[in-house]
Amino acid sequence: MSSNHWYKDAVFYELNLRAFADGNGDGHGDFIGLIERMDYLVELGVTAIWLMPFYPSPLKDNGYDISDFYNIDPAYGTLDDFKRALAEFHKRGIRVTVDLVVNHTSDQHPWFIESRSSKDNPKRDWYVWSDTDQKYQGTRIIFVDTEPSNWTLDPLTGEYFWHRFYKEQPDLNYDNPEVQAEMLNIMRFWLKLGIDGFRVDAVPYLFEREGQNGENLPETHAYIKQMRAMMDREFPGTIMLAEANQWPKDLMPYLQGGEFHMGFHFPLMPRLFMAVRQHNRRELINILNETPMLPEDLQWCIFLRNHDELTLEMVTEEQRQWMWKEYAPDPRMKLNLGIRRRLAPLLDNDRRRIDLLNALLFSLPGTPILYYGDEIGMGDDIWRYDRNGVRTPLQWDTSKHAGFSTADKIVEEVITDEVYGFHRVNVAAARQDAGSLFNAIRHQISVRKQHQIFGRGDFQILYPANEAIFAFERFLEKPELGATRVLVVANLADSEQEVVLDTSAYGNVAPIDLLTGQVYPNLGSDTYTLRLPAYGYIWLGV
Ligand code: NOJ
Repeated sequence: MSSNHWYKDAVFYELNLRAFADGNGDGHGDFIGLIERMDYLVELGVTAIWLMPFYPSPLKDNGYDISDFYNIDPAYGTLDDFKRALAEFHKRGIRVTVDLVVNHTSDQHPWFIESRSSKDNPKRDWYVWSDTDQKYQGTRIIFVDTEPSNWTLDPLTGEYFWHRFYKEQPDLNYDNPEVQAEMLNIMRFWLKLGIDGFRVDAVPYLFEREGQNGENLPETHAYIKQMRAMMDREFPGTIMLAEANQWPKDLMPYLQGGEFHMGFHFPLMPRLFMAVRQHNRRELINILNETPMLPEDLQWCIFLRNHDELTLEMVTEEQRQWMWKEYAPDPRMKLNLGIRRRLAPLLDNDRRRIDLLNALLFSLPGTPILYYGDEIGMGDDIWRYDRNGVRTPLQWDTSKHAGFSTADKIVEEVITDEVYGFHRVNVAAARQDAGSLFNAIRHQISVRKQHQIFGRGDFQILYPANEAIFAFERFLEKPELGATRVLVVANLADSEQEVVLDTSAYGNVAPIDLLTGQVYPNLGSDTYTLRLPAYGYIWLGV
């Protein structure tokens, strides 16, 4: 397959190094453990990794609070271990993107320690300081459950510093050219080691301006253009993926303006959960109709879950309340504006619904990202601190600590409950069971990889009368690989449904379900009738 725009054909895996595999027996996931277990990712079939933060950090925010951008936290190993892991991934044809946390540092970062030490310290202006906490009132608070304000008073100098996340994560001051230059140097450092790109964290919040909501400011776009220009000039072929929790219209400038190659599609995600619960396609269609198709060099990134709470920022207040009512019946499940649960528990461990959402994840326009552990249907623990309940060790087998570590004490306890505990849910068992979720996902991935249409094809929604059916077409005129048209039909209802589709545009050909190989009756009629079982789906290719 053409390596040009490789990210368009990719299947990503979000990897939480801390909880993946412990190689040196200290109870903490690390690069050595990752290398030992890497072939598992080859078996799963993913082609790219998003590696969550591994930099030195006091871990107030799971590593998104960095105290040294140029190093590896010793708990994960050394820079040499990182280089080895990178080389091992590349040997296996897997690309590696890493988190780039641009907006803030840890309050333990030497820059901040200096900055707060006095008003005339040369690093003072690397952060955003003010003698009042009344500036930028139009800016919302993101961690609403913990932070009463985006300003925190620092008693040492009697001034307030600005932070969009935890108060232990002071925002860098992007109005300072030194900060701008330094972040480019940080990028160069990792790019020189040979990584394939960055997942850029908290993109919209780089600048602060009075009378604005502090998101997506023109200054932010201008700086990101500089980041991109540097990458294109000095490290051609490397990519940036935007973590910007925004509506499609606000995300588009980040993509089309010569900035990011890819952007997460945040608003689509909760609507997939709405659709399977409402047994109705309406919300999905509404958001997809607001989603522009992207040109050859740009891509949406789609996902069902990640390491954060299932965010409900991109829904209406009414939809948010509905999602909480349906998917967060216990108040502990709520966190900030979201839901701290994993995929399998959200869907009541119902394989039909899990398979259906995966089938949509792998066939809707965009590059899919799987969250580690969801491929075996891992559970969560809503009683743990913050989002730690969805970040527990990967369950490898039934041995001590689920095969994650040989240490006595481990960094985060494994899940042990009856339904999702490691005695039942683990990689070893999933591998052996031909009907496991793991094998179903592996199959969906392998079929997807045989058809370039999924990553690159155009997209058109169909509107059959039965609204429990979500149907769409993908088409690609000259794929290097696979089908030129695929008709995806999904039954969102919990009962068998009949649907009548207009397939007259196809001509009189027999399609096959790419997933099962089953041949279907010839297309070409305007009353093409199908019956799908509860939560059934097909990928009809011609
Ligand atoms: C987004 C990350 O996904 C989240 O985990 C983190 O807390 C915030 N950005 C702050 O870095």
